[in-house]
Amino acid sequence: MVRAVNVDDLRRLARRRLPRVVFDYIDGGADAELTMRDNCRAFDRWIFQPRNALPSVACSLRTSVLGSDLELPFALAPVGSSRLFYPRGECEAARAAGAAGTAYSLSTLSGCRLEDVRAATSGPAWYQVYLLGGREVAAAAIARAKSAGFAALLVTVDTPIAGLRERDVRNGAKELTTRRPLTALPYAGQLLARPGWLIDFFRDGGLMQFPNVVLPEEGPMGYADVGAALAESTVAWEDLRWIRDLWGGKVAVKGVLTALDARRAIEAGADAIVVSNHGGRQLDGVASSLDALPEVVEAVGGRAEVLLDGGVRRGSDVVKALCLGARAVLVGRAYAYGLGAAGGAGVTRAIEILRDGVARTLALLGCPDVKDLDASYLRKQTSEQSEV
Ligand code: FNR
Repeated sequence: MVRAVNVDDLRRLARRRLPRVVFDYIDGGADAELTMRDNCRAFDRWIFQPRNALPSVACSLRTSVLGSDLELPFALAPVGSSRLFYPRGECEAARAAGAAGTAYSLSTLSGCRLEDVRAATSGPAWYQVYLLGGREVAAAAIARAKSAGFAALLVTVDTPIAGLRERDVRNGAKELTTRRPLTALPYAGQLLARPGWLIDFFRDGGLMQFPNVVLPEEGPMGYADVGAALAESTVAWEDLRWIRDLWGGKVAVKGVLTALDARRAIEAGADAIVVSNHGGRQLDGVASSLDALPEVVEAVGGRAEVLLDGGVRRGSDVVKALCLGARAVLVGRAYAYGLGAAGGAGVTRAIEILRDGVARTLALLGCPDVKDLDASYLRKQTSEQSEV
């Protein structure tokens, strides 16, 4: 039982268990972190308009996304390197998602084999694609994902290179993951300050590799090589068509913020679009996801499912995104904090907090079903109101 009333409590617990370099990798964003902060603030700029004195009914949270039936209108976003947060972190998170009846998205940059993650969850699993190592390497992973039973692909298009996460630079994230112990030494104190995590880390085999990025003749890509490999792995629209044909199943494009890109994604055959700025970890100074959502919903015009991620920390945030046209949302840090705090039990607690928050918000709004949510339940706060 993880004692946390809200996601911020899980964040505090994660900070206590994880070394600074790992906590900040989760918690931080790109450059001045403007977009990261605005992702959260954008939710506060909308206020609810409840319908009171209605007969109370049980609220339904069920929906379907990318052909997968979900008990909840949110799923877990791909979060790379989760195995650094907790032993076999991706399997732990996937198991918790499945037990709650929702989907887990596995990042290309994961420390657990995709077959093991698929086997760990009773729910749907989606595989997030980076073209790391080139098309052939990605094709092999996609073929493995298909035979393992992943239900959909998420293709991330906002990562032509990695954003500059200043906290990672200060904490020596790169130095700590090189193969040269002397380079790492000046930064090692923060690891020793968290002996519990350090024991878990060594018990789990030490620094993870990327077993789903298998390089010909070399084997799994090592941690130290990832930055350079990312810079050579841009996904262009023609790659998306190639991925879609190779996969033959449902595909979502993750990282769309404008009507233009939404239309391009649909032309390239996307079944779903994830309105996302990568949690403010890529280009800083772009719109918050919630602010970008209405433009994308309008441009899509019902031709694809629209999802959103970025800044979701409460059930009421999920509800607001649904009111503005998202079919469901993905959550990243909200569960990553739980994983860092207490493994699968922490992820379970994060999901419970969000699920109860969605159910409570629906009941208080007087809306019986997440599918009935629309913009009439919301009003944009005026600037004077937001200053109070
Ligand atoms: C991410 N995200 C991400 N996205 C992706 O497509 N592939 C990846 O490997 C990762 N890795 C990753 C690591 C960490 C530590 C975080 C926090 C995020 C982005 C993620 O899928 C999602 O877009 C954001 O996390 C959403 O914002 P919130 O919910 O974290 O505010």
